[in-house]
Amino acid sequence: MSTIVSQPNRRDVLLLGTTTVGLSGTGLALWPFIDSMMPAADVAALATTEVDISLIEIDQRITVIWRGKPVFIDHRSETSVQKIRSETIEDLRDPQTDEERVQKAEWLVAIGVCTHLGCIPLGQKDGDPRGDYGGWFCPCHGSHYDQSGRIRKGPAPRNLAIPPYTFKANDILLIG
Ligand code: FES
Repeated sequence: MSTIVSQPNRRDVLLLGTTTVGLSGTGLALWPFIDSMMPAADVAALATTEVDISLIEIDQRITVIWRGKPVFIDHRSETSVQKIRSETIEDLRDPQTDEERVQKAEWLVAIGVCTHLGCIPLGQKDGDPRGDYGGWFCPCHGSHYDQSGRIRKGPAPRNLAIPPYTFKANDILLIG
């Protein structure tokens, strides 16, 4: 079963599911104000969220809910991956390589909760500010994350957390 929240355009997608979350051309849904969303208790309690990622285009980002938290899924282009992996990382506040943070180079899967005080960073929608490093920007107190979800500037102490996930099949992501 899946629940579609709203449906303005195809770049910003939130899909909720019980055990399966499907993505299809007609099933895309926008979640422009995710921070105002209060998932039902039964949704929040779900142990796993399954996402069909086959129709997520390169450079497209979607948000799904796992255990009541937003999870950002970023289908990164080869250029983005090359850029993020070529940067010097010695001075990172929370040192991690991009390789340590992803299972497949083209897919970043991260919990979309700022590690400062828990706001939901911007960057999922077209036109959102993405900060100085092309990832996400938390407007609450000005934290900038890169496209690996690593904190690069601002008060947040840690990188965006990575949830447990596996690729059940090539195009099926299982979070949790
Ligand atoms: Fe994100 Fe403070 S909650 S910068």
